[in-house]
Amino acid sequence: ASTVLTGIKPTGTPHLGNFVGAIKPALALAGTASNALYFVADFHALNAIHDAQKLQSLVHEVAATWLALGLDPEKVIFYRQSDVPEIFELSWILSCFTAKGLMNRAHAYKAAVAKNMESRAGASGAAGVEDSDDLDAGINMGLYGYPVLMAADILLFKTNVVPVGKDQVQHIEIARDIAQRFNAIYGPTLVLPEARISAETAVIPGLDGRKMSKSYDNTIALFLPPEKLRKTIFKYKTDSSPPSEPKDPNTSPLFHLYREFATPEEAEALRGRYQSGIGWGEAKEAVFDVLNRALEEPRRRYADLMANPARVDALLLEGAQRARALASPTLHEVRRAVGAR
Ligand code: TYM
Repeated sequence: ASTVLTGIKPTGTPHLGNFVGAIKPALALAGTASNALYFVADFHALNAIHDAQKLQSLVHEVAATWLALGLDPEKVIFYRQSDVPEIFELSWILSCFTAKGLMNRAHAYKAAVAKNMESRAGASGAAGVEDSDDLDAGINMGLYGYPVLMAADILLFKTNVVPVGKDQVQHIEIARDIAQRFNAIYGPTLVLPEARISAETAVIPGLDGRKMSKSYDNTIALFLPPEKLRKTIFKYKTDSSPPSEPKDPNTSPLFHLYREFATPEEAEALRGRYQSGIGWGEAKEAVFDVLNRALEEPRRRYADLMANPARVDALLLEGAQRARALASPTLHEVRRAVGAR
């Protein structure tokens, strides 16, 4: 018996990196797990999005994306994080077992500090003196404590496996650390989760070659109309080698994307084209063809779901009730362990 869980933060329109890195593997795993819990991490997004309407519409976009791509709410417990208050109670308890130093080393926090450091160096012409207040400018406690909330998401359901992209691995290691610390004091209570990352899709590159990310503005949104999708794929940065020159499919992000959506026979055929020499235009056209084929149906379903937010909301609420029923015994176990009622 195993429990699989993963979440997506509604801070922007879901993109190809989310689909290939997390949604696709998660949906494949759902069939084999005894419990699958997938959710929209809206209170994680709250550290960045301070506009109620925007947050709500992003929640709908992310939820509709999961459903359009094939999530079956009969088989998967599908919910909005903020509908499950047990998570936030556990988050507080866990924060009392989390070393502050551990949070200082979290990637997102370090990146925010580094950005402040950079802009200060730029302003004064030199790296300035130590001034922690200044370096924490614009950073709220929600960003700082983000990994604790994520640990609560995971540990509350005694999760075994967390399918994610590589950028989330540190967070899952932090969740393990926190669980270990808790168990060392109170005895075996929390289950240590494992990240599940598939080698090929650990990091889907964006249009500029860096990790595809909302914060780099290099994403391919999933449900663009076909012509727009094609135009966006053609923006992928490629080198200036001529079409006749052989190309290595194994190091080409375009080939990796192609293989993700092609049949094995199609992938082999295109591999041959790369090796004998392919123009980047042809390589991009090929990616568009398979991607558009895979997204045609989901695109239609997505439009339907977005036209019916009340239905999506009702589904999420139903899922939250099931999630709460599962969460309640663990939370009680934890409460009793620490000495609460
Ligand atoms: P988020 O919303 O940034 O991303 C959602 C999922 O998509 C994956 N991903 C990628 N995978 C491969 N290549 C890429 N370019 C790429 N970009 C994004 C991410 O790795 C992630 O799996 N903190 C999480 C949300 C979260 C969560 C959780 C996840 C909250 N609680 C509990 C798992 C378990 C986040 O911000 O993901």
